[in-house]
Amino acid sequence: DRPVRVAVIPGDGIGTEVMEPTLGVLEAVGERHGLTFEWRHHDWSCEYYTRTGRMMPQDGLDRLAEVDQILLGAVGYPGVPDHVSLWGLLIPIRRAFEQYVNLRPVRLLPGIESPLRLREGSSIDFVVVRENNEGEYSEVGGRMYRGSPHELAVQESVFTRRGIERVARYALTLAAERGGTLASATKSNGIIHTMPFWDEVVRETAADFPQVEVRDYHIDALSAMFVLDPGRFDVVVASNLFGDILTDLGAAIIGSIGIAPSANLNPEGVHPSMFEPVHGSAPDIAGQGVANPLGQLWAASMMLDHLGHPDAAAEVVAGIEASLTSGMRTPDLGGTASTTEVAQVVRDHVTGQGAAG
Ligand code: NAD
Ligand code: IPM
Ligand code: MN
Repeated sequence: DRPVRVAVIPGDGIGTEVMEPTLGVLEAVGERHGLTFEWRHHDWSCEYYTRTGRMMPQDGLDRLAEVDQILLGAVGYPGVPDHVSLWGLLIPIRRAFEQYVNLRPVRLLPGIESPLRLREGSSIDFVVVRENNEGEYSEVGGRMYRGSPHELAVQESVFTRRGIERVARYALTLAAERGGTLASATKSNGIIHTMPFWDEVVRETAADFPQVEVRDYHIDALSAMFVLDPGRFDVVVASNLFGDILTDLGAAIIGSIGIAPSANLNPEGVHPSMFEPVHGSAPDIAGQGVANPLGQLWAASMMLDHLGHPDAAAEVVAGIEASLTSGMRTPDLGGTASTTEVAQVVRDHVTGQGAAG
């Protein structure tokens, strides 16, 4: 088989630190599964921006259109305004390639203790399906009367029937395959145009899935429930902003924001999908070599799954679990290990050199 062409965009800060060892783990696991990779490295980042005035070259999206998948570290760094860096790189990729599903598993891995006191016999194992192309993330709006006491800003949310329907359908299909329940994040009591529309379209789409029980939760109550009773959730569908906030919370309840993975999927496979950790560039710890690489590695495992290699994906997750139970942890999980030390345990495990074989 021909090599899988993967665009590699480490980006900024710890993005570069967690990406490098991840490519090594992918090569190691690929070797065992007849998978080879052709890496196409791109240094598109805030540093690139300060040199060129752009986050990526003019033909950046055209170049990404030629690959099978995209691996991304993190984008954004002090010195370049976040709305410039993110709307110059991350968000255009998600939109150009219709990666309308942002799939974010929230699963407590063996070896990690949740900061929550979980109920007896309860575990955390659900998936957030975040709408990834529209909603609250919008360019519609503006600022007026700058500097005057009447200064104001207007930010419009844009929800479309097609946009809600397709992400709801994905979430309902996933719920039908899993435990048969879907929680839909809403705020139709406070946001009176878009959220009642969201609820309606989710309901209408659910009519095709009689086997799935759909329950609406207001986002405020839902957030509390993530903390008080995360064991009740199976699949959660949420708009772009709600899903963003919920998934940092989800990462926190499984122990660290450094672990959580994210797959920006074009489910039809017409365009490349993009795999990245949930976390950002973490300027506060960048350059110290202590970033947790597990979020990036877990995201890489999701890429293997998406490529149709569930066995290879499972081996990477097993390697992640082996690193956790070995006690080799980065400081965010209470350890003293470095990024490369943790990634090395994962790599040893997938190459069969680890203690657990
Ligand atoms: P962040 O996720 O970068 O950091 C939040 C906190 O979590 C920090 O204390 C950080 O040290 C810690 N943390 C994050 N990842 C970690 C890891 N792998 N190991 C150990 N600790 C980790 O969020 P932020 O501070 O809000 O954002 C920093 C920059 O990253 C901003 O420019 C933001 O816009 C950008 N960002 C980018 C992405 C992305 O590219 N997808 C995602 C989120 C934030
Ligand atoms: C994420 C990030 C991005 C988002 C930011 C950096 C624009 O927080 O991927 O979760 O909000 O989508
Ligand atoms: Mn986020």
